[in-house]
Amino acid sequence: MGTGKGYGKTILFGEHFVVYGLPAIASALGSYTIADVKVVEGNGWVVDDQRPATPGYKKQKYDQAMQSIQNIIDYLKIDTKDQKLDISFSGDLIAASGVGASAAQCTSLARAFNDTFNLYLDDEKINEAAYEGEKSYHGTPSGIDNTASTYGGLIWFKKNLTGGKNTMDLLQARKKMHLVIANTRITASTTEVVADVRQLKEKNSLRFEKIFDEYENLAKKAKTSLINGDITMIGELMNQNHKLLQEITVSGELNDKLVDMALQNGAVGAKMTGTGRGGLVIALAENEDDQIKIANAVENKGFDAWKTMIG
Ligand code: MEV
Repeated sequence: MGTGKGYGKTILFGEHFVVYGLPAIASALGSYTIADVKVVEGNGWVVDDQRPATPGYKKQKYDQAMQSIQNIIDYLKIDTKDQKLDISFSGDLIAASGVGASAAQCTSLARAFNDTFNLYLDDEKINEAAYEGEKSYHGTPSGIDNTASTYGGLIWFKKNLTGGKNTMDLLQARKKMHLVIANTRITASTTEVVADVRQLKEKNSLRFEKIFDEYENLAKKAKTSLINGDITMIGELMNQNHKLLQEITVSGELNDKLVDMALQNGAVGAKMTGTGRGGLVIALAENEDDQIKIANAVENKGFDAWKTMIG
């Protein structure tokens, strides 16, 4: 028997751009998924998914979740012929599009296998196993979600497009930041949205080149602002990042509505986070009072809002 944890994440800057080797900044969340593995008589594996979730999320992601578990079993060469694995998932991370739920599930499972079978995997190997699981959800994942889920903290991430090691630097933010996470309750398919962006990019290569340049400058400024704890600038850059995400068509009507709602209620910046076309929106607040005000405004309009600290 063994257990493992995987943290949720939020992408502060650079979802989708990160797929093309541009830098992105993500933060792990305090909430996590727990995997428990029991070895029983028989063969194969069964799953009991007890994670709290956005309505419809688990059903929509069921096939991908099953494939991700199989990918991790295969990658770690876990025997399922002479023993049966009784796998369960729980924890306080709400499974929803945009919160790194799939990565948290993959990371927790890799850690639980490590614990159950004494595999002596270090974080790098756990991250690799989780990445294999993520392939069933993303098609071609950048790896940022599993990296944030495995290592925790605030990370600057760059995918190595030639197959070598990705860049992962832990950032030290000068200030803790008050964040509101708002849920559109729409579950999006990362594989589909990423594929749409790729198609759009192929048809509009010059326009994308310009957008990518603009984003890259923004990401560098965001890194400096985070390190310096310049909340006003971070907020302004989040707004600019949201506009670029709108330009590459990954925001959605409800994402934009929640962004506007947050800004009208005192957020210093807001943007969609993760896959987009639904999923989550993040809003940065100057202080706890503003954080509460933004969260209440979102909830009063019938959406879910979570308050968290990052940095
Ligand atoms: C999804 O959380 C983030 C995306 O950039 C996809 C990826 O990085 O693999 C949309």
